[in-house]
Amino acid sequence: MNSETLTAAKNEIERNGFLDIEPDPTLDLFAEIERLKKEKNAILLAHYYQEPDIQDVADYIGDSLGLAQQAEKTNADMIVFAGVHFMAETAKILNPTKKVVIPDLKAGCSLSDSCPPPLFKKFKDQHPDHVVVSYINCSAGIKALSDVICTSSNAKVIVESFPKDQKIIFAPDKNLGAYINKVTGRNMLLWNGACMVHEIFSLEKITKLKVRHPNAKVIAHPECEDPVLRIADFIGSTTGLLKYTQKDDAKEFIVVTETGIIHQMQKANPTKTFIPAPPENNCACNDCPHMKRNTLEKLYLCMEYEVPDITMEEELRLAAKKPIERMLEISKKAGL
Ligand code: 13P
Ligand code: SF4
Repeated sequence: MNSETLTAAKNEIERNGFLDIEPDPTLDLFAEIERLKKEKNAILLAHYYQEPDIQDVADYIGDSLGLAQQAEKTNADMIVFAGVHFMAETAKILNPTKKVVIPDLKAGCSLSDSCPPPLFKKFKDQHPDHVVVSYINCSAGIKALSDVICTSSNAKVIVESFPKDQKIIFAPDKNLGAYINKVTGRNMLLWNGACMVHEIFSLEKITKLKVRHPNAKVIAHPECEDPVLRIADFIGSTTGLLKYTQKDDAKEFIVVTETGIIHQMQKANPTKTFIPAPPENNCACNDCPHMKRNTLEKLYLCMEYEVPDITMEEELRLAAKKPIERMLEISKKAGL
């Protein structure tokens, strides 16, 4: 792109979050993405909540911890992050010299948005004797105010790395925080944030489904509310849930998390049945609208033109890097 086109592209990305160009309809986007990966020495990392086409073309599909670990160790020149903003931002924090591109810069996260750094800073200042453990679903600004980061697959281990009497603030997910309080016997102070997808599941509808499918196992993500978690046969991160479906003998599973993960569950267990848990309304609210902003077309365009890419001030990056590195270190020691 010449400098004029690049300026126009940047303005458009600021407005839309992506380059609004129609790729040539005769292009085989799967083949094009493979070609671009080789040409640009790029690695394509995708979260389980991405649409099936994106998962199928990814080099690595995983949960938030797995994705951060892949981002930390990659030798690629460019990281293509098919996920939401905080995930790509984490990859950039760990790889300041690499280009990190995302199909849609406006792929955000309601949980991350529920914790604005200036408000959180005030809250933190009111509790100077507390350490801060933040869920990775938060902005770099919140990470920079944290002592350590965690994900849904290592939250218990991270919290238990502190002495039992250590006062802790847990942000931003009150549901994951409450769940970790329960399983560790701690009394962490919880920031009042939640995920719009995991909060919407209907206990009543899941219970009715369970009556119709008495042998189905209910498997839930810990971002769900406590009443839903109470009826779950298994609670885990997306990777944890996927592994459970592979080792458990049940033939049917009611899946209480974003529907994207069902693609991998079905691939790994072709003879088993996966029923997406219903939300409160007759909407598709168990699809994350942020994750689903990414499409195969936008993925191809971000690889071809290398925009939108993640940028960040160096001071913020360095402050946000410390608690992420601490998380990766603790996870490694714990064999996660
Ligand atoms: P995990 O990737 O840790 O399972 O979390 C799910 C999620 O909500 C990511 O946004
Ligand atoms: Fe955020 Fe929830 Fe979407 Fe995950 S599923 S990106 S936590 S809004």
